[in-house]
Amino acid sequence: MNSKLSNIIAVDGLAATGKGTIARRLAAHLGYAYLDTGLLYRAVGLSVIVSGGDPFDPAAAIPAAQKLDPAALDALMDDPRLRSDVGGQAASKVGAIQGVRDALFQFQRNFALNPPDSKAGAVLDGRDIGTVIAPDAMVKIYVEATPEIRARRRFLELQSRGENVTESAVLEDLQTRDARDVSRSVVPAKPAEDAIHLDTTNLTIDEAVAAAIRIVEDRQKARS
Ligand code: DC
Repeated sequence: MNSKLSNIIAVDGLAATGKGTIARRLAAHLGYAYLDTGLLYRAVGLSVIVSGGDPFDPAAAIPAAQKLDPAALDALMDDPRLRSDVGGQAASKVGAIQGVRDALFQFQRNFALNPPDSKAGAVLDGRDIGTVIAPDAMVKIYVEATPEIRARRRFLELQSRGENVTESAVLEDLQTRDARDVSRSVVPAKPAEDAIHLDTTNLTIDEAVAAAIRIVEDRQKARS
């Protein structure tokens, strides 16, 4: 087996399931590189909005995705709009356009196969990592939680950042985004057939990370 192909870990799931924290901490634990692919879609969505365009419009979104320099993404990380719900909605809209997904494919695939800093592997989180970006991943984890608990977590996170939101508005926002991500005709968000489901509804984040580490270690043991 090609050793590079075997060191990709796909962590997929809907918004606020905990997949980002799980993927980031999994990567740190394993010494692997980590890529939050949602940030790519968020950066494209925001750049469309900032230039006065409509994120649903392929004529605005596709060139924005083609122009995106993922290597310069670090500079965007400090922009609070990137992680805001406005950024999430814009990302979800541009993510429904095939030309946007095509433009972002190669960077993600490359990252998975050739992790930066000569890391031994890569953890990617998103919606289509196990199905499209890395169908050959060593482990695919699909993270789930009820909409209510996801809204509660996201609400507390936004509140701690000083954003003025209500929990019911956060739930509504999540449900709109879920519906769009799951029902879009282009690469709808769904678990890979061989994904292991990890339900975090009744887990603390530490318990969820520990469960993900166990899943990966079991797979590594089974391979050796
Ligand atoms: O993971 P996130 O919440 O930051 O993602 C924001 C939006 O981007 C999500 O609602 C759908 C889109 N997205 C996608 O279509 N494919 C990915 N691999 C990652 C995100």
